[in-house]
Amino acid sequence: MNIDLFEKYESNVRGYIRSFPTIFDRAENATIWDVDGKAYIDFFGGAGSLNYGHNHPVVNEALIAYIKRNGITNALDKATVAKHDFLLALQEIILRPRGLGYKVQFVGPTGTNGVETALKLARKKMQRTTVVSFTNAYHGHTLGALAVTGNEMYHDSYYGVPLNVSKMPFDNYFDHDMDSVDMLRQYFEDGSSGFDTPAAVIVESIQGEGGVNVASAEWLRKLSQLCGEKEIMLILDEIQVGNGRTGDFFSFERAGITPDIVTLSKSIGTGLPMSIVLMRDDVDVWSPGEHTGTFRGNSHAFVAGTAMLEHYWRTDTFSSEIRAKGKKVEARFRAIRERHPDYFSDVRGLGMIWGIESSVTDFCSLVSREAFERGLLMETAGSEGQVLKFLAPLVIREDEMDKGLDLLDAAADAAVAKAPTELGQEEGAE
Ligand SMILES: Cc1ncc(COP(=O)(O)O)c(C=O)c1O
Repeated sequence: MNIDLFEKYESNVRGYIRSFPTIFDRAENATIWDVDGKAYIDFFGGAGSLNYGHNHPVVNEALIAYIKRNGITNALDKATVAKHDFLLALQEIILRPRGLGYKVQFVGPTGTNGVETALKLARKKMQRTTVVSFTNAYHGHTLGALAVTGNEMYHDSYYGVPLNVSKMPFDNYFDHDMDSVDMLRQYFEDGSSGFDTPAAVIVESIQGEGGVNVASAEWLRKLSQLCGEKEIMLILDEIQVGNGRTGDFFSFERAGITPDIVTLSKSIGTGLPMSIVLMRDDVDVWSPGEHTGTFRGNSHAFVAGTAMLEHYWRTDTFSSEIRAKGKKVEARFRAIRERHPDYFSDVRGLGMIWGIESSVTDFCSLVSREAFERGLLMETAGSEGQVLKFLAPLVIREDEMDKGLDLLDAAADAAVAKAPTELGQEEGAE
């Protein structure tokens, strides 16, 4: 088995294989083994799609039982037992206890399908065309979702010009005290600002791909209040930081807000493809079959998702565990920053998403490479890859996490030692 095969037969668009150049084979919880039997601790977590880890025994058991009894695999959007049970579990375990009276729309299999749907729905509901999104936002790569995504690397004017989108500064985008919600209010209230009232504002409460930028609860509340006052749909993109990542099931719970529309994907299907849009009843202005597609709901993802909602979310225990583990990660990240203050400038995060930022160009990629060599998978985030991002499965065992954090320590130390030669840094930069 040779990794060169991928170069020969797979498109140049390949991404993560370049950061983690080996052939992976087996995985359990937060450990992955490659074909040579080398173990890697997974701090990457399928970019947020593996919150429940790899091959969770409860998921595997449920899937095997479902397949063995010839449970339906593909039903388009017909009613099935698997979908019935998932809808019921989501209502009973997640939505109702939180007072969230949402209906669920099943959309195409990946996150961007949810974003695309949410934008289309908001525009239809409000009968307006423009949408506001934020600096460093990441919402996916279909045309509508890409239009509200910040990073210019993903844009291509031949594919389509991002029309009808206004970009505003995210919370704390500027070093100085400028509040973009106040700015938006002024735009909306000034008839000659040239700013159309948008159909929707789309926001991540924590920008994962954008570099682990955490919006304050107060900023989110102000944004929600402004949208309510001006009758603008507030879309919370929970694709990366929902599903328990911050400790609460939804990352917006800490702000006590109720968005009009929520997009959820990644771990809702425990790593199997599933993407859903949650909407208030009055927002559900679709006519039957108006927004459709073949793969709207994957029965195996329903079975797996239901199993995890039942297993982890009936009590608060899981949330407490997530918060406790997150505190440990934060402490270790802060210690790394203190040890190498000339290389690391900031530590940010919440719950089990953490980022450590470097002000030295390409330094985080160097740490990621050193980590990979030592048996740790950890990716970079941010427009310049300037942030190392921790996104391990929420169910990671303490021993796996400690081992991964030790490997990260070693990788950071090695990268500091190599930076002068590998990055052309001045000797003794520290
Ligand atoms: C916040 C957010 N929205 C949307 C997406 C797009 O999801 P997908 O890659 O499944 O299309 C992502 C992917 O990372 C994301 O983090």
